Amino acid sequence: MAKPKVFATHRLFEPARKILQEHCEVEYWEKPERPPREEVLRRVKDKEALVCLLTEKVNDELLLAAPKLKIAANVAVGFDNIDVAACTRRGVVATNTPGVLDETTADFAWTLLMAVARRLLEGDALARSGNWKGWDLDQLVGTDVWGKTLGIVGFGRIGRAMARRATGFQMKVIYTDAVRAAANVEKGLGAEYRDMNTLLAESDFVSVHTPLLPETRGLFNVEKFGRMKRTAYLINTSRGPVINENDLVAALESGRIAGAALDVFEKEPAIHPGLRRANVVLAPHIASASLETRTKMACMAAENVVALLQGRRPANILNPEALKG
Ligand code: DGY
Repeated sequence: MAKPKVFATHRLFEPARKILQEHCEVEYWEKPERPPREEVLRRVKDKEALVCLLTEKVNDELLLAAPKLKIAANVAVGFDNIDVAACTRRGVVATNTPGVLDETTADFAWTLLMAVARRLLEGDALARSGNWKGWDLDQLVGTDVWGKTLGIVGFGRIGRAMARRATGFQMKVIYTDAVRAAANVEKGLGAEYRDMNTLLAESDFVSVHTPLLPETRGLFNVEKFGRMKRTAYLINTSRGPVINENDLVAALESGRIAGAALDVFEKEPAIHPGLRRANVVLAPHIASASLETRTKMACMAAENVVALLQGRRPANILNPEALKG
């Protein structure tokens, strides 16, 4: 019997290819750059499954071009690139990769936090420049991390992984979320709930871990920056559009906040030119980019595809209502 046809918009990693190749006939986008939209639309025509990255929009246009499609498996936990309602309307299952990237992403949020607080990139630039004249008492003085207050916005798996790491720095951890965590979770993590405005007023570091939803789009705007301490830093490893970048640039330029460290941007891959400042650390959306984690994410997406094509329920289904029967 012919194997079901799959299009993967990335070459993926060998362990994920192995999972797919056993059960499916897979066409990979092998080039290092992302595929042009027309190419994706052309290649999905005869496919029953799509393995895609967050750079591909799975919307009505794509679904229309893929009449045989049964599953769109995102290699990411965030799925704002997928119109889940449109998938459901057409009986296409959508999946994501939750859980496997929490610790790695929290590691990186801490990397950003430390880098901006201790001016690591400015130090690196000076050390490489050949112009370093030697130790000086007030050279590149940053701010302490230990003992400060960490405010976590979005207390899901990644937000909690962020909180766990704060213990070693003897920090006070506060968080805000639409849903307050259970008392035993708060106790276990030593985290206290605050409403958003109180959290902004108390935090020395505000770390964003909320998904991109209609209610979180543009959440950080001029009004929110106005509530932060002038000495506070904003860290974002969630989704760029959660922050209004024009307002952030204005807050940085006016000294309304002390700095920012960002892994995600409003209009990726474009980065607001006003963010290229000494007190901003910039990273190209790599918070989950360890080989171990990216391999796990690809394998998870491959397993979701194989499960569905074999008539099983994928583990990470976003729209169970799309499952027939
Ligand atoms: C995700 O999974 O949503 C990240 O942004 C990419 O790792």
